[in-house]
Amino acid sequence: MPLATRPLTDRFGVEISGVDMAAALDPATAREIADLWYENGVVLFRGQDGLAEEAIVQFCRHFGELEIHVRKEYLSETNPELILISNVDEDGRRIGILGDHDVGWHHDQIYQRRPAVGSLLYAVELPAWGGNTAFANLAVAFEAMPDAMRARLDGLRAQHSYAFFNGQWSVPTDDEQTRLTPDVVHPLIRTHPVTGRKAIYADPGMTPAIDGLAADESRALLDEIFEWITRPEFVYEHAWAPGDALMWDNASTMHRRDAFDPASRRIMKRTTIMAPEDRAVPF
Ligand code: OGA
Ligand code: MN
Repeated sequence: MPLATRPLTDRFGVEISGVDMAAALDPATAREIADLWYENGVVLFRGQDGLAEEAIVQFCRHFGELEIHVRKEYLSETNPELILISNVDEDGRRIGILGDHDVGWHHDQIYQRRPAVGSLLYAVELPAWGGNTAFANLAVAFEAMPDAMRARLDGLRAQHSYAFFNGQWSVPTDDEQTRLTPDVVHPLIRTHPVTGRKAIYADPGMTPAIDGLAADESRALLDEIFEWITRPEFVYEHAWAPGDALMWDNASTMHRRDAFDPASRRIMKRTTIMAPEDRAVPF
């Protein structure tokens, strides 16, 4: 039976209702969800309150192998496929990453040689104000781009850097994590590993430069691209409720987060979903 869906914007994103993430997922429904995910870039499930970590992990395994994030200090102790995104301190230790400040536009994992295809973020505890997360669909943005601009991007490659992101929006990696996350270069236009659809693959948070261009030329072109891809018509901004689970496609969307009430607790749990090895390349 087709899943019940509701569009999140005119151009992309759907809310899927009638799925209980705590229950076993049959293969046909999993395939239907995967198709909606790749087609839309963002899929939302609401009302999944009280979901056990094990259930989040089991659900996500239907969509690909799960990566253990290099930030091992923020992983769930019982389910390391989950990384905590939080401003909460427990026993003198910050339990999650990204604090209470805003976080600029980025793709999770763009700095990896074999980047993840997706992430699922689950809301456990939310602040009194702020903390919305916005998603830009860069396949839609690419398709709407004027031909002349699109032609200028053809064949270019961009550099991506986790250190560049951390310097702006997060905390530094330790020596081992730094060794595991060297800068990489990927094509500026990415072909989706599953759908074949093309999308801009660069973002203000993690992409310092276009490969092979003079610094000023690279900066000017990136600024022009970023101005285009952050236009409101390509963006969905999500206001969280506890029990929301939002799964996005890292090949064709980027995201950002608003600052939130520093006096409140915000606890989110995230998985990182890999594309099947044989479909992860070419870009
Ligand atoms: C992430 C992320 C945004 C948020 O988990 O990758 O960017 O809303 N989180 O906390
Ligand atoms: Mn992120």
